Amino acid sequence: MAVDTVSMDKIVSLCRRRGFVFPSSEIYGGLGSTYDYGHYGVLLKNNIKARWFEAMILERDDIVALDSAVILHPRVWEASGHVEGFTDPLVDCRTCKLRFRADKLEDSQCGRKPSKHPGETPECDLTEPRQFNLMFETTVGPVQEEGAKAYLRPETAQGIFINFKNVLQIARRRPPFGIAQIGKSFRNEITPGNFLFRVREFEQMEMEYFVPPAESERWYRYWIDERLDWYLRYGLRRSRLRVREHGPEERSHYSQGTSDIEYLYPIGWSELEGVANRGDFDLTRHTEFSTTKLEYVGPDGERYVPHVIEPAVSLERIIVAMLVDAYDEEVVGERERTVLRFHPEVAPVTAAILPLIAKDEGLVSKARSLYEELRKRQSVEYDDNGAIGRRYRRQDEIGTPWAFTIDEQTLSDDTVTVRDRDSLAQERLPIGGVRRWLDDALERDWKTPKGD
Ligand code: GAP
Repeated sequence: MAVDTVSMDKIVSLCRRRGFVFPSSEIYGGLGSTYDYGHYGVLLKNNIKARWFEAMILERDDIVALDSAVILHPRVWEASGHVEGFTDPLVDCRTCKLRFRADKLEDSQCGRKPSKHPGETPECDLTEPRQFNLMFETTVGPVQEEGAKAYLRPETAQGIFINFKNVLQIARRRPPFGIAQIGKSFRNEITPGNFLFRVREFEQMEMEYFVPPAESERWYRYWIDERLDWYLRYGLRRSRLRVREHGPEERSHYSQGTSDIEYLYPIGWSELEGVANRGDFDLTRHTEFSTTKLEYVGPDGERYVPHVIEPAVSLERIIVAMLVDAYDEEVVGERERTVLRFHPEVAPVTAAILPLIAKDEGLVSKARSLYEELRKRQSVEYDDNGAIGRRYRRQDEIGTPWAFTIDEQTLSDDTVTVRDRDSLAQERLPIGGVRRWLDDALERDWKTPKGD
């Protein structure tokens, strides 16, 4: 039976055990809700970014890439509304010295009595709520004076808007067209938590799609569908995804319409990605604040401020969703195994090369030359450490879809066995055909055996 719902604790412990993600600054006692990515975490992240980049840019003709600075001119954040409005209501507890979001007290735990919410016990002594800006401030240049104050970007989107004119002119685009970027964003969240789900430093993948105003609703719906399809394409189960449209009271100041693509995380249905119709808010505001006109002028002299449709997500939320969706436990021949059933194109390692007996020089040499051949094109791993069963289990836990085993028979007929992570089926094939076999396997449609 497939594991339907896995706890966040199991995911955290697997990530640590297998070196996907470590708590940051651990040797100094840790820094709450901050994480470092280990080898497999980096490979997983790189694959997710590559799949997003392919879908957004390489497979299309209408979107270009950008990599803007993290620290922008401080006026950018005045124009965007972040200086004034990017705030959450904060309360302090004078008794336990913890801080809470005043609008999320029912989701928080009292520092002294974790079974209660803040304010529920007679000892709780909460301050009045005050607005707390989530942007991290920093100082540019050596002198700490007011004029040098700057911010770490809380979203990558504004770096795109301020480059609208550059792209329009140099990439010679006309709406509808998009600009996409991947990069770190920073928010001083009052209550980060749930592993990578809400952190203070995260990597966003955002795309701003500029459209003629009359077409904005159509493109808004289009991008909701596109993004939902992307998650299905990379193996997330349909039953774990839903689209939730925000009511007018829930929308951000810039939004004419927002839908969350939600995933059923262990903490319940929560926002994975947001798709927003931002109207002309951003280009109009930056025109006002910078006095540079950000508009489209057509060949016949028609001019207008394009409206913007924005799909925005963090790698962290995708990683948690993919880990949760992929996690499985099963008993095989009286042995339990834990397996991450990742889509082969996001799995950190595509194939493992395993000589059956580590001390057999003939097997090792064949295995190593296969490994050298494959590693030029794929993420592959050579492992001759320990019993073969243990090596398979290790690969299962990091989600490697295929393992090629080199055994005695290889020495006589130059064939190897390939073991499939999901079905556990094994087949033999010529060692010279492995590279091609792997290319074909990656091209095949993949569906999680966990069902819909
Ligand atoms: N440019 C629009 C924007 O940034 P947002 O809803 O605030 O909108 C977009 O953020 C996405 O960024 C979210 O859907 C989520 O995937 C991710 N995200 C936001 N805050 C996050 C945090 N503290 N930790 C991890 N991911 C976060």
